[in-house]
Amino acid sequence: MLKTILDIGFLIASVGLIFGLKRQSDPSTAKNGNLLAAVSMLLGIAIALIYPLENSSGDVSNFIWIVVSLFLGSIIGWRMATKVEMTGMPQLVSLLNGLGGLSAVFVGFVEILNLTKDTPNYLGSAGSTLFALVVGAIAFSGSLLAYFKLDGMIKDSQVTFKGHNLVNYALLVAVIVMVGMVLVSGPNMMLIMILLLVSLIYGWSFVAPIGGADMPVVISLLNSFTGLTAAAAGLIYGNQFMILGGILVGASGTILTVLMCQAMNRSLFSVIAGNFGGSSSSSAAKVEGGVSKQTTASDTAVMMYYAQKVVIVPGYGLAVAQAQQYVKQIYQILTDNDVRVLFGIHPVAGRMPGHMNVLLAEVDIPYDALLDLEETNEELANCDVSLIIGANDVVNPSALDDPGSTIYGMPVLQVWHAKNSVVMKRSMASGYAGIENPLFFKQNTAMLFGDAKNTLAQLVSELKAL
Ligand code: TAP
Repeated sequence: MLKTILDIGFLIASVGLIFGLKRQSDPSTAKNGNLLAAVSMLLGIAIALIYPLENSSGDVSNFIWIVVSLFLGSIIGWRMATKVEMTGMPQLVSLLNGLGGLSAVFVGFVEILNLTKDTPNYLGSAGSTLFALVVGAIAFSGSLLAYFKLDGMIKDSQVTFKGHNLVNYALLVAVIVMVGMVLVSGPNMMLIMILLLVSLIYGWSFVAPIGGADMPVVISLLNSFTGLTAAAAGLIYGNQFMILGGILVGASGTILTVLMCQAMNRSLFSVIAGNFGGSSSSSAAKVEGGVSKQTTASDTAVMMYYAQKVVIVPGYGLAVAQAQQYVKQIYQILTDNDVRVLFGIHPVAGRMPGHMNVLLAEVDIPYDALLDLEETNEELANCDVSLIIGANDVVNPSALDDPGSTIYGMPVLQVWHAKNSVVMKRSMASGYAGIENPLFFKQNTAMLFGDAKNTLAQLVSELKAL
């Protein structure tokens, strides 16, 4: 009887997860979709904890350890999530993703040593267990490096070297050969330890040469790896809820990876092979003898106030400055003055998928004012002013016209097609990809220097004075 109730509970939690995820695909329902998914996950965890009690011969001796760890982990996770700055969110996501991989490593390591060649269905059990161990280890060390890179603690050039990809191919072959050996000859402690070590090295080494503008792809790829390891762990324990949860994460991570590749106009293979946009040490587009013009908040305000159409392009700098409230005020003043205001959202602007959407949704910018890349480029073709707030790589024309550039081929927002462009940033410094931006030197571009919070505040007061 208890088993039936628990199984029904798992079913409810699974349906909750699916609907929670579905609701996250629309900004208006995303918040409660997230809550529904979290509550469903909590229900699933609670049922998984009660499940062994259903069987009178079930071993519940570790129960106290599990509950204490859950309690401590929840407190740490809660504190991290509530304290993290918006700009630190991508790092936190990477770190938590890595920890998911690490838990799969623990499960895989313990369970593979419980198997012998004589275990019934050895190949099936060992296959899923090795998958959890190996892919979990790759996701763990890879996510750790992604965390350090996103946080700026490690630069791309510090962890990669010429011929790195050959080393990676060799490591991958070594992993595959060792997995084959375990499947054929059965697990032994020494072999498993070496396999684990090589997988950890491979995870780190495979992320090392990928950098610059390619980071979004690798982050979503690692995310899908972790989901798949959770599904493999579900297979090991015969827990359908875990299988389903893992597959949902794995599938959505994979879809996101494909979308990110499309956004960067790249194949997944070329990202992994690290041929593009890699490190900041790669040849950066130099703007020979370029001179940039400067403008003031008051000139920018006049230009925008008397425009018919203004396209605002937010980027990572807006997230750093946390000045979205001023953007809302500018939107309000201009629309009240019958200026059409649109927001151009590049799929990899910021440091995490949907970063700019979240930022603008926080201040209730209407969702229909947000345009995707293609729509924005159409609007830019007949627009008076493009205002670029803390964006750099996503508006870099080298992506279209400089075959030597590390971001060549990546679709960008063609802000220079507007009659006038104003770029708001603190200096002439490069963006995440570490390359110069010829946009800053174009005839119809002017720079408005300063921290976006200050310059946007000035812009608001100038607009109010008009
Ligand atoms: P970036 O190219 O990183 O440029 C941001 C610019 O903002 C910088 O050049 C910086 O110039 C300026 N800035 C920083 N703080 C500022 C502040 N307080 N006030 C004003 N300006 C400020 O940003 P982007 O155009 O959004 O492009 C995103 C990049 O990150 C892409 O290369 C993308 O591939 C990569 N990436 C994206 C993701 C995801 S999933 N979105 C994940 C990892 C990496 P100053 O220092 O001169 O102010």
